Amino acid sequence: MPASHVAHRSRSGVLRTKPVDAILAESGGGEVDGEGEGLKRTMGLLALTFFSVGATLGTGIFVILGEAVPKAGPAVVISFVLAAVTALFSALSYAELAGTIPVSGSSYSYAYATLGEGIAWVCGWCLLLEYGVSISAVAVGWGQYVNEFLDSAFGFSLPDVISQPPGDGGTFNIPAVIVVMLATMLLVRGVSESATANTIMVFIKLITLAFFCAIAFTAFKHGNLSPFAPLGVAGISAGASQVFFSYIGFDAASTAGEEAKNPRRDLPLAILISLAIVTIVYVAVALAALGALPWRQFEGSEATLAKIVTDVTGGSWASTILSAGAIISIASVVLTVLYGQTRILFAMSRDGLIPPIFSKVSRRTQSPVANTLITGAWVSLLAALVPLGRLTEATSIGTLFAFSLVNIGVIVLRRTRPDLPRGFTSPFFPITPLLGVGFCIYLMARLSGITWLVFLIWMAAGIAIYFLYGYRHSRWRAEIPVEAKS
Ligand code: ALA
Repeated sequence: MPASHVAHRSRSGVLRTKPVDAILAESGGGEVDGEGEGLKRTMGLLALTFFSVGATLGTGIFVILGEAVPKAGPAVVISFVLAAVTALFSALSYAELAGTIPVSGSSYSYAYATLGEGIAWVCGWCLLLEYGVSISAVAVGWGQYVNEFLDSAFGFSLPDVISQPPGDGGTFNIPAVIVVMLATMLLVRGVSESATANTIMVFIKLITLAFFCAIAFTAFKHGNLSPFAPLGVAGISAGASQVFFSYIGFDAASTAGEEAKNPRRDLPLAILISLAIVTIVYVAVALAALGALPWRQFEGSEATLAKIVTDVTGGSWASTILSAGAIISIASVVLTVLYGQTRILFAMSRDGLIPPIFSKVSRRTQSPVANTLITGAWVSLLAALVPLGRLTEATSIGTLFAFSLVNIGVIVLRRTRPDLPRGFTSPFFPITPLLGVGFCIYLMARLSGITWLVFLIWMAAGIAIYFLYGYRHSRWRAEIPVEAKS
């Protein structure tokens, strides 16, 4: 082991950190055009940006918007801005860490380098909520648009029994399973095929939302926006906690550190550009929707954007086009977030914290095929059986927790490794990461008691699994040389 790896390791047990130099060496150093451990570098700035936009724009705007409006009224537009500000502080921290430690594991790897193995595990465990559980939520939202499409194009929809989970009046959500399976099959073919498919899908997604705005703005009534905040500040905050889900995914580029051609430069840019793009789109779509439909009529609607264009045009053609676009748009979220989940599991497995099968790379496709198949299987089962609301809140709390750790990680790494080359530095340090933590805590505090309970049970299970498996199999503990242990 190189001396630098030993020199920077000062802690042991669950607090031991993984030296940044070791992380970089293991992953191919994050060098331009270098080869990672079996993963292939194929993604440039455009692909990475579209990757993050692909992972972000989806069920949040197509479905959750409709659920948040009854909580905040027209001021849901402010909720989107508040959630964007929360995301921005964390995005700056993500950009700094992604440009400094450009590897596959996203915040899990950053936490390992800065806060130690125990916290890294907690972070990785939260990322299962941010990625794995959110794919299930997104897939459920996809199913709603499939039904809307079938209804507006052919006049029938799937019966609840095969298109809703048990808690929502059905038994098994088949559309949600289908979209996860399709994404799994595409990912198994390889990352460059998936990135190309994603770029096309993101174009379609942006065109679909522009189409929505074009139609909805023709029916814009100022009166629909007043009173603007009928439920006050509390409503705006509750709305922000809910729509925060729609920003989840901007960090997805940070899971592609080992497949990016120029990660130090492109990862920070991709993260920040994608956040700017989705914020503009969200505010525009929310304004268009609220101008076209009085806020009280959002209550209980499914596939809200399709409903609005139907009301405005008085026919089903616009809804058919919008639903078809939404089906493609939401599928790209499933694809990219599933990819992100597999890469996080890849990094955790390479460190020995989960079984080695998750870091086996297929020689033929240079992608982790077994990992992708296993992840696709459990995610589709979850999507088939759990209702959307439960899934989105669990996703948000896990994500906010992981984001807090990333913000803290930036502060720690600046102190412990000021010497590292950084592709991007967060401005107004340490105010920005501290504000990042503060905003995350603020939104977490606004989530429901049941969500907190689920989260605490989830964390307790995670900690138990860590001590039963990860702690014993950690590669880093096994590799600690005698002089570093003393
Ligand atoms: N932000 C992603 C979506 O809204 C999870 O679908």
